[in-house]
Amino acid sequence: MTAAERGPKTGAAAPRRVTVHDLAAARAAGRPISMVTAYDWPTGRLADAAGVDCVLVGDSVAMVVAGRDSTIPATLGQMIYHGEIVSRAVARSMVVVDLPFPLQHLGVRAAIRAAARVLKETGCQAVKLEGTAGQADVIAGLVAAGIPVMGHVGLRPQAVHQLGGYRMQRDGEALLADAAAAAAAGAFAVVLECVPREIAALITRSLEVPTIGIGAGPDCGGQVLVMHDLVGLSFDRVPRFVRSYADTKGSVAQALAVWKADVEARRFPGPAETLG
Ligand code: KIV
Repeated sequence: MTAAERGPKTGAAAPRRVTVHDLAAARAAGRPISMVTAYDWPTGRLADAAGVDCVLVGDSVAMVVAGRDSTIPATLGQMIYHGEIVSRAVARSMVVVDLPFPLQHLGVRAAIRAAARVLKETGCQAVKLEGTAGQADVIAGLVAAGIPVMGHVGLRPQAVHQLGGYRMQRDGEALLADAAAAAAAGAFAVVLECVPREIAALITRSLEVPTIGIGAGPDCGGQVLVMHDLVGLSFDRVPRFVRSYADTKGSVAQALAVWKADVEARRFPGPAETLG
């Protein structure tokens, strides 16, 4: 019996998973890549059903879900918890899980140990790590261990205190060096966060792997947004580079207000919702 024949039998054929090769093909064809964050079963299901290429279980979970003021408090255990839920919800998109601070700074072996746990315990297909050219050896070590890595340069939220806030990164030479080092180390894609359009375009042209931009203009190989920003469910002021495609917070607030009024006026439950 082959490994394929021994594979999971679920009845309906599982959709073919987006792989690193598909992203390389998108880069070669000039087709923009879509990536959105998800942190739980409903957002994972919705992102997968929308047909996005990649679903990112970002360490932004610490901010948008847990209400912390940075991504720094996210722990490996929390990333694995959310990553496992999202991986079960997503059948087709590539699931990428963030390595939380400070694992990419603790050496190659510590990063391999952590990333291997992420892959084994969540079922995701890749990890993402924030870093400069200084973390290229860690990316190379992970890739040598068979772990697909997405790089993340520019505004690195885990370094917010060192960078002096959530602001545009404008040192073109350093940004190019960081992105090139990630790609040379074997990253299959590189996120560019809060980078001026011209620099992002230059980096995108110079790398053989796709760039995925957030606040980096329209010339990147793809775009990523935080789910809660995209669907209008964020409580913090959203950055100017975000476009909200829905007012989920408004819809939920209105539903709750109407339901509360119905309860208080004894309009809920009505005959349709009354059993027996
Ligand atoms: O954690 C996250 O959501 C991210 C995206 C903003 C790229 O890293």
